[in-house]
Amino acid sequence: MDTLDFSIQNIGALRDTRDTYQVFVGARLLRRIGPLLRRHVDRKRCAIVSDGNVAPLFADRVKENLASGGFRPILITIPAGEKSKTLKQAGVICDRMIAAGLDRQSFVVGLGGGMIGDLAGFVAAIYHRGIPHIQVPTTLLAMVDSSIGGKTGVDTRAGKNLIGVFHQPSFVIDDLDVLKTLPRREFNQGFAEIIKHAVIADAKMFRMLESWKASDASILKRLIKRNIEIKSRLVATDERDRTGERALLNFGHTIGHAIERAGNYSKFLHGEAVSLGMVAACTMSVTKAGLRPEQRDAIVSLLEQFGLPTRLPPKFPRRKVLDAVKVDKKFEDGKIRFVVTPRIGVAYTAHNLTLDDIREAVRQL
Ligand SMILES: NC(=O)c1ccc[n+]([C@@H]2O[C@H](COP(=O)([O-])OP(=O)(O)OC[C@H]3O[C@@H](n4cnc5c(N)ncnc54)[C@H](O)[C@@H]3O)[C@@H](O)[C@H]2O)c1
Ligand SMILES: [Zn+2]
Repeated sequence: MDTLDFSIQNIGALRDTRDTYQVFVGARLLRRIGPLLRRHVDRKRCAIVSDGNVAPLFADRVKENLASGGFRPILITIPAGEKSKTLKQAGVICDRMIAAGLDRQSFVVGLGGGMIGDLAGFVAAIYHRGIPHIQVPTTLLAMVDSSIGGKTGVDTRAGKNLIGVFHQPSFVIDDLDVLKTLPRREFNQGFAEIIKHAVIADAKMFRMLESWKASDASILKRLIKRNIEIKSRLVATDERDRTGERALLNFGHTIGHAIERAGNYSKFLHGEAVSLGMVAACTMSVTKAGLRPEQRDAIVSLLEQFGLPTRLPPKFPRRKVLDAVKVDKKFEDGKIRFVVTPRIGVAYTAHNLTLDDIREAVRQL
């Protein structure tokens, strides 16, 4: 039965926000998005923002269904890919919304992966000084990570996510069926963030992943819900990224971001770079945080089980990785803040790591 697939995840109070927001996780949700939102949203006009890959697959369904729920949607499609996550595209979207007569009583529906979620959320945050944003993530990464936590923004030539604003979504709607069209490589990269959540916060989920069978949809639903809970819990205690809990989500990301940059953002997907970054973080955790080598090996095996890279190609410019870490991170007295794990399920920010430690971990990759 349809309704049995349909569950509401109230992710709890987030400080500094208007209210709590709900995440719906289930099958065939796009087919009832209109009636579903009708119960919660008292505005009519909205812009569906999507990209050139996702819109042909799902936008008609969403648009028709929103219309059947009494909404008046327009569709704005921008080219797919990270290169569209710019101020320029945000401006294009705003102009289209203005031309269509959308006022501050309207809202935005972001239909796509993390790129669209960040961009549509940014537009919602600035349009008429802020209108509601409904996230409809269509990648696994966006469901378990980017749609939760309210970080929105765009990239500039100097780097990723340099311009942005916190703007929590009003609702997040995770329809599991949309994942069926997701290319395998994109699907797998979502598991990098899931494995990250397991390593930093959930040893039980780590064991569950070790015995994962891809075909089980109900497990996927449970897994997504669990990951939303983990991320939202870490975000809720530190929504604005100030006290440190949220920073634990950066596990694997210092070196991961540097690898993305060193590969000109084309060699590795984000999740793949994070996979490599986590392997390096585990190597450092063995020497600096007492992680048992068997646990490091178990993490590497799990990443490999999901088709994620755990070694850099031999000719990859490792020096560029170090350069990128230096640009990205502040070293104080030669030390860097770095998230390590002493055992699977636990993480903390260490202050005793040096550039040499990072150099050695990257050399071993
Ligand atoms: N806000 C946050 O907290 C946060 C966290 C992590 C990542 N991010 C951001 O998320 C972005 C990466 O997200 P992503 O990996 O989802 O990238 P993406 O949105 O670019 O999607 C990846 C590719 O898959 C395609 N696609 C999406 N859904 C599909 C579907 N159901 N079927 C077929 N193709 C589909 C897209 O068109 C794109 O080509 C980056 O911009 C990153 O900075 C943000
Ligand atoms: Zn990430």
